Amino acid sequence: LASIEVDVSKIEKGQAIKTSWRKQPVFIRNLTEEEIAQADAVPLSALRDKETLKERTASGKENWLITLGVCTHLGCVPLGVGEGENRGDYGGYFCPCHGSHYDTAGRIRKGPAPTNLVVPEFEFTSDTVVRIG
Ligand code: FES
Repeated sequence: LASIEVDVSKIEKGQAIKTSWRKQPVFIRNLTEEEIAQADAVPLSALRDKETLKERTASGKENWLITLGVCTHLGCVPLGVGEGENRGDYGGYFCPCHGSHYDTAGRIRKGPAPTNLVVPEFEFTSDTVVRIG
């Protein structure tokens, strides 16, 4: 199947889930207001791969961060999904393989990864269902 549909109604604020699409892990995260504010407060000049949270999310649904769960360094699956998992120094995701830290917009902030976590093509087909791919 080229695309998948995911019901996001059970993902609470601050939670993330892992699903899979085209045999790759995909993270779907419901950002809190604080996490959104944290991402928006970062000047582009501080970023290695300069993208805003708005550019990485759907208009009016900036709380839904949807990324591949694949570190852009050498492809490990970062931590940060689920209770008590290490979200790294910037509160997003942390790749334990060689220590890449991603922020609450999934942007690389520290460590060897060259680029932000990839945002796949997606579209909300209703308030609670997102189609990925
Ligand atoms: Fe993630 Fe190297 S694969 S830091």
